[in-house]
Amino acid sequence: MELSLKQQDRMIGKLNHVAIAVPDLAAATAIYRDILGANVSKPLDLPEHGVTTVFVNLANTKIELLHPLGEHSPISAFLAKNTAGGIHHVCYEVPDIVAARDRLVKAGARVLGDGEPKIGAHGKPVLFLHPKDFCGTLVELEQV
Ligand code: CO
Repeated sequence: MELSLKQQDRMIGKLNHVAIAVPDLAAATAIYRDILGANVSKPLDLPEHGVTTVFVNLANTKIELLHPLGEHSPISAFLAKNTAGGIHHVCYEVPDIVAARDRLVKAGARVLGDGEPKIGAHGKPVLFLHPKDFCGTLVELEQV
């Protein structure tokens, strides 16, 4: 992948969240709430994404605890390999997700799925980028 951008030509903005897949959502919530002393949300089922999430609200970003929901959860295979849980993806904010996608595709990056933005956990359009093109990390882009 060839990608050279000038400083004034930035695309990604803030880190929106880091998503951590967990085998036990109640235990993970308790770790963040009771041991780390963070503000945590109630669990939220997102059947269309195959996950239940708990949001950990930090001053500058969020942590999303992800747990599989249903039989075809996209994080089941990840948890089978990472039995204690682990960082699943990072999410960066972009002002225009279609423009961002077009620019990334032109640069040779692979967009997962059909390449069309879907509505994500926060009700905003998201896309996922292939980890092999981004330092071994699954990257989510969210339009804000
Ligand atoms: Co996410």
